[in-house]
Amino acid sequence: MGELEGKVTIVTGAGRGIGRATAIRFAKEGATVICCARTTAQIAETVRLIEQAGGKAVALVADVGREADVARLFAALDEFGGRLDVLVNNAATLVVKPVLEMSLAEWDTVLAVNLRGAFVCSQRAMRIMAAQGGGAIVNLGSLSGVANVEKFPGLAAYNVSKYGILGLTEIMSVEGKPYGVRVNAVSPGAVDTQMLHEAAPHLHTSTTPDDIADTILYLASDRARHLNGANIIVFSNE
Ligand SMILES: NC(=O)c1ccc[n+]([C@@H]2O[C@H](COP(=O)([O-])OP(=O)(O)OC[C@H]3O[C@@H](n4cnc5c(N)ncnc54)[C@H](OP(=O)(O)O)[C@@H]3O)[C@@H](O)[C@H]2O)c1
Repeated sequence: MGELEGKVTIVTGAGRGIGRATAIRFAKEGATVICCARTTAQIAETVRLIEQAGGKAVALVADVGREADVARLFAALDEFGGRLDVLVNNAATLVVKPVLEMSLAEWDTVLAVNLRGAFVCSQRAMRIMAAQGGGAIVNLGSLSGVANVEKFPGLAAYNVSKYGILGLTEIMSVEGKPYGVRVNAVSPGAVDTQMLHEAAPHLHTSTTPDDIADTILYLASDRARHLNGANIIVFSNE
């Protein structure tokens, strides 16, 4: 038996990087994974990899920054009786620009995807999970959102969105508790993905998307049934 046998899950930003690794890991553990991202070819490839390994997945092109897209994403649950056991808020974007040069539109885009998108998905998930008697939400934070860890210039909107994600995790864990809904976060340092190569090409890391997927799986699984409101900080081991 896999750790997520028979569970219905959503992973946002599942087209590459940590999201793809998580979707593949969840499917290996027996979950059905609804994979969302904006780039059709990339989520189609994630689903192909899962199906090739004998797993179950659905590809859904959606921008979590758009409410109508999120509504379509959650409508995909109808096929599975409206159930949702795990939501992973992984989708995120960034604009690398100093505060002095950042436009309001750039600021708004980053916050709309990274924070508002996670809120809209979490609210819908929490409604379903509360009604069915429980569930787990795992949010992707970052060391960018953890106080007293070195910050890098140009990431103002991203950093603020990640501080916000940890705040959302904290308050939703409190509000979810009476319903059996656990809300936790993983805050990685550098992970070898496209985002790292774009945001901080000078950083080198041996932490892989699979490493973070393992931690996400842990928080999503019954092994972490005692954890609610936690933030697992993943400092690189080099
Ligand atoms: N890599 C790191 O070093 C690192 C460190 C700390 C935290 N994290 C966090 O880990 C998570 C995953 O990052 P990653 O490094 O795997 O990034 P990535 O390689 O850039 O992948 C991001 C995924 O999110 C999707 N996405 C972006 N905007 C979206 C939107 N508006 N709606 C739906 N999907 C969207 C992307 O696909 P489309 O562009 O096709 O939509 C892609 O599939 C993020 O929350 C990130 O902040 C990463």
